[in-house]
Amino acid sequence: MVSEFDSKWGKRTPGHDPHALAGFRARLTDVLIATAPKAGTTWTQQILHQLATGGDPEVDNIFEVVPWLEMPVPGKSTEEVLAGYETMRDPRLFKTHCTRQQMPGVHTAKLVVVSRDPRDSVVSFHHHLQGLTDEARRIFDGFEVPKTLDAVVDRWVEAKLWSRNVGSWWPHRDDANVLWLRYEDMKRDLPAAFDRLVDFLGWSVSAEGRRRALEYSSFEWMKKHRRAFVRMPQSEKELFEPGSFIRRGETGSHETELTRGQIDRVMREARESLEPECLEFLGLNS
Ligand code: A3P
Repeated sequence: MVSEFDSKWGKRTPGHDPHALAGFRARLTDVLIATAPKAGTTWTQQILHQLATGGDPEVDNIFEVVPWLEMPVPGKSTEEVLAGYETMRDPRLFKTHCTRQQMPGVHTAKLVVVSRDPRDSVVSFHHHLQGLTDEARRIFDGFEVPKTLDAVVDRWVEAKLWSRNVGSWWPHRDDANVLWLRYEDMKRDLPAAFDRLVDFLGWSVSAEGRRRALEYSSFEWMKKHRRAFVRMPQSEKELFEPGSFIRRGETGSHETELTRGQIDRVMREARESLEPECLEFLGLNS
């Protein structure tokens, strides 16, 4: 077991292995995708994998090429997971839902922070939870799934699932090794997001590689190849019912799916937790 340990790495849960965080050794070439849940994390995993490979239509399971850093892997010890990270080729790409305080390698790796309107994120989270398969419920044993949208909103607000993460990155938005993308901008103009990413990462991507990466990162392509995005590493079992994970891929879901009261609860918590400048940056001041 990893000997170095500090409570800042958090408590062990079915989705969070603090020992993996404590034992992770970041490299200068690493890219960590840091998000609150449902911000377009999987999309960004796919984008970076596609840009790094010049287009890989054969991608079988995104979590084998862009692992979820702190996620325990069923059947593997922390040491085995960490040893697997050591054998990955550079540039290594990872997903994480850690806050900045919990994140290893913040002074070493490059960090791509992706944020999304919390109202759309909570709608997406609701569908995510309702779409969990028996396999997912088995892996996340002990995690009580809120049954109604109202209960999901309560969980979201009480646990500060969005604001704790976004607020931890906000003071570091201008750090040289941080690039902050907004889901809404990626939806509006994905080629522009590609330009920012490639420029920030200093990768050289051919015109054909970029064209392929754009095609394979489209919502349509990802929906058609959904099996690549809904399984644990080296597992055939899907974690989500069809249509609940690569679901709608739009901005503004909250306008039709949340009540006025639910929107007010999400926004009240956002305003209480984050600076006005941050809310303005996220387009949430209106
Ligand atoms: P919706 O549920 O609103 O459709 P995460 O990967 O962080 O869990 O985020 C999941 C959300 O990203 C889902 O939102 C999903 O549909 C959306 N998404 C996944 N791939 C996408 C793509 N290529 N383009 C736009 N949105 C995408």
